Amino acid sequence: MSVTPAWQTDFDMARACLEWQFEMGVDEAICDAPIDRYALDAAPVPKPAVKPSVTAPTPDAAPIATPDADPVAEATQMAAQAQDLDALAAALSAYPHCDLKLGARNLVFADGRAGARVMIVGEAPGREEDMRGRPFVGEAGQLLDRMLKAIGVARDHPDLGRAVYITNILPWRPPQNRDPSPEERAMMRPFVLRHIALAAPDILVLMGRISASTLLGSKDGITKIRGQWREVAGIPALPMLHPAYLLRNPAAKRETWADLLALQARLRTMT
Ligand code: URA
Repeated sequence: MSVTPAWQTDFDMARACLEWQFEMGVDEAICDAPIDRYALDAAPVPKPAVKPSVTAPTPDAAPIATPDADPVAEATQMAAQAQDLDALAAALSAYPHCDLKLGARNLVFADGRAGARVMIVGEAPGREEDMRGRPFVGEAGQLLDRMLKAIGVARDHPDLGRAVYITNILPWRPPQNRDPSPEERAMMRPFVLRHIALAAPDILVLMGRISASTLLGSKDGITKIRGQWREVAGIPALPMLHPAYLLRNPAAKRETWADLLALQARLRTMT
């Protein structure tokens, strides 16, 4: 019988803890030297400096939330003041009420071409997106690119009429890719609506359950409403199944193909 030595268990445990911290977005040690907290007794512990986790764009000072502020009202006001997409990204960076920012590596704002006729709104960045600061660049994003290519559009198509602009309901990755909470969705909604107004697409694609329910306010499931044209802020909006769902349920690609053809047909009739 082989017995695992105690040092090996400690090593594995320490390594698992480190990997978990890395996964949660920790990328630096806060103090220069270790603190012996037993020796500190009642002495005040120095507060670690909090580094803003967003890389683009960085506000001058770390945003501080006032305790009794209304997060949705403040989001609405900050979003309304943004007069262009850069200002909107800066407003998101400065927004103090969404703690997801603290665990994210990057603000994932948008990709593709602003001014494109089609704007896709997904759910939230995953691990790849968080690392690279761009939406839909992981496995689901690669499937999305293939889906778009099948109807002759692409996120970087040189012809704006066939280009796509992409964002998410949440610009920061939720830990462990959990579903965004109703509060997180409510506070990001004004920013997404402003994002849509500034990008001014002809058509919106609501990619997946979280996007559709946040923007339509409907309780109907995505499998029920997918493929049915709706409106968001006066813009025709098509709810579709999320590519991550298609990766788990390949049989559903059939419905998605029908939705892609509906999108293509609508683009043709709107020219
Ligand atoms: N899923 C999303 O909804 N958005 C991304 O950016 C990546 C995966």
